[in-house]
Parts: sequence; structure tokens; C-alpha cells
Amino acid sequence: MKRFTFFGGKGGTGKTSCAAAYSLFLASKGVKTLVVSTDPAHSLADAFDKPIGFQTAQLGDRLWGIEIDAEVEARKYMKAVQDKMLDLVSAAIVDEIKRQIEIAYMSPGAEEAAIFDKFIELMESVGETYDAIVFDTAPTGHTLRLLTLPEILGAWIEHLIEKRKKAMDLMKLAARYDKPLAERIENDPIIKTLSARRDKFSLARRILTDPQESIFHFVLNAEKLPILETARAVELLGRHGIAVGGIVVNKVIPPEAGSFLEKRRLSQEQYLREIRTRFASMKIVELPLLDDDIQGMEQLGLLSPLMEDLGG
Ligand SMILES: Nc1ncnc2c1ncn2[C@@H]1O[C@H](COP(=O)(O)OP(=O)(O)OP(=O)(O)O)[C@@H](O)[C@H]1O
Ligand SMILES: [Mg+2]
Repeated sequence: MKRFTFFGGKGGTGKTSCAAAYSLFLASKGVKTLVVSTDPAHSLADAFDKPIGFQTAQLGDRLWGIEIDAEVEARKYMKAVQDKMLDLVSAAIVDEIKRQIEIAYMSPGAEEAAIFDKFIELMESVGETYDAIVFDTAPTGHTLRLLTLPEILGAWIEHLIEKRKKAMDLMKLAARYDKPLAERIENDPIIKTLSARRDKFSLARRILTDPQESIFHFVLNAEKLPILETARAVELLGRHGIAVGGIVVNKVIPPEAGSFLEKRRLSQEQYLREIRTRFASMKIVELPLLDDDIQGMEQLGLLSPLMEDLGG
């Protein structure tokens, strides 16, 4: 079992249902599992048919859930970062810092950055409170940005550290005969803060790119467009060093579905063949289309044993 499992994919394919079913599967195997939704739509509660919120809620034996609100987290996060930075920096680089913060956090990546911070916080709880965390992510583009963020933010922080070091070197010259000032420069709190952040990001990046620790599964339906999109996303994650373990083909129409769905079932079969060929090197799990939405343990219990093939 990996400590961190992600489910991603196009909107509406069944990411939330799969994350829920997989977390139930792990819990049933005795693994203390936390399932986390990073999607503002908060459908995890619907899948379990139980209220879940910003606080961890118990969903079953050895199973807990939490829903992170990206927007709220982003606002909190940006404010905290800004306050901290502006509090620490000298006037000389305030503008630069403000500009950088704006670029990094006011941009469309802000929510991901916030979720990412929360993600790091949760990662640190694994090994203590939980054995494994299952992430239900938002639709593909969003998730890919989220997962590639440590790389981008890491580089950004590195750049700030360099800038700060240069400024400090200049100040050191000025402080040659001023011992207290020289000491303050030596223990510069900004470099410390930035370095701590950089270390956190690189830790997260190390965990995300360690196939022993983290695995990413794609959920798709047997249709034409998702196959192309998934192939591209798998390739992109690979380039960022993130392992893609499995493909979950969800909502596969069972043969006994009857004549009304027969035409659609035959077209799905064709796409299933294509999926099996295209993703031959990966684990492929097929989940049947149920006759009802996924709303609670009854339906989750039908899908959860099928998740075994993803490994665990
Ligand atoms: N195998 C299935 N059989 C029947 N209904 C399903 C199945 N899988 C998912 N559903 C239903 O399809 C809808 C979308 O599923 P889900 O919320 O899991 O997808 P999602 O990928 O998380 O969507 P979003 O991109 O909006 O977050 C839900 O109403 C869910 O109950
Ligand atoms: Mg969802």
C-alpha cells in the first residue's frame, strides 16, 4: 500500500466515487485511512451520504474524511504568507516580495498553493494518526497544476533566497563595525523562513515523486475524448516524475443491462479495447455502472472490493 493515493481525471467520471470506494477498501483491510477532498464541490459527503467538513469526520471503522475548501484556504494562506513576509522584510525588497507573492499566490495557482499547504500538513500526519491518505482531486487541469506546484514554487523560493542573500552580503559590508547588526544579518529571519518553506516543498516533491510513497490513478469513462486526455495527462505527470499506477474505467455498462443500453455498451467495448491497448503497462480496473448514484455504503460496498486490483 502507498501512503498517498490520488484519484484524478476529467469532470464527472467518478473520481470522488473511486476515492471513496478505495478508502473503504483500505479501511476494510485494516489500514487507518483518511480520505481527503480537495474539490470545492464537496461531493465526498454525497458519496458517503454523511456530513463531512473542514474537521475530520469518522466515516466508518478505521476510516475518516475531510473536505478542504480551496477558496477559504487560499484566502487564509495568502494572508498568512503576506503578513509574515511583509513583517519580516526590509523596505528595500518589500515591493519585490509583494510582486512575487502576487505572481505566485494571486494567480490562478493560489488555490492549489493553499491546498498544497494543507496537503503538506496532512502528509505530516501520516505515520501517526493515519496509515494512508486517499485524495479525491478536482478535474484534471487543476490537479496537474497542484501536483507540479512544488517544482514551480520551489524554484520561486530559491530565487527569493538568492535575492535576499545578495542583499545581506551588501549589508554585511556595511555592518563591518556594527556587531549587533552583523549578528542580526547572520540570523536573518527571512532566509530562515524561506528556507523552511523551501525544505517543505522539496519534502513534498520528494514524497510525490517517490513511487514507494505516492501513486496517482486516473479515472475515466469508456469514451473517445477522455482516452486522449488521459494519455496526455499520464505523459505530463510522468515528465514531472509522478508515478501513474492505474486506470479506473468507471461506469462500464454490464452485459445484462438490456437492449436499451446495448448500442452504448458495444461502443464502450470498443473504447475499452483501446484503453487496454493504450495503457497496457498499467493496472486497469473496470467498475460497472450501477443502477443508482453512489450515495452511501450500499453502493460503495459494491465498488470497493473491485478496487483490490489497484493494489493495496
Ligand atoms: N459506477 C457508477 N455507477 C453509477 N453512478 C455512478 C458511478 N460512478 C459515479 N457515479 C455517479 O456519477 C456522478 C459523478 O460521480 P463522481 O462525483 O464520483 O465524479 P467526479 O469525477 O468526482 O465528478 P467531479 O468532477 O464533479 O468531481 C455522481 O452522481 C455519482 O454518484
Ligand atoms: Mg468529485
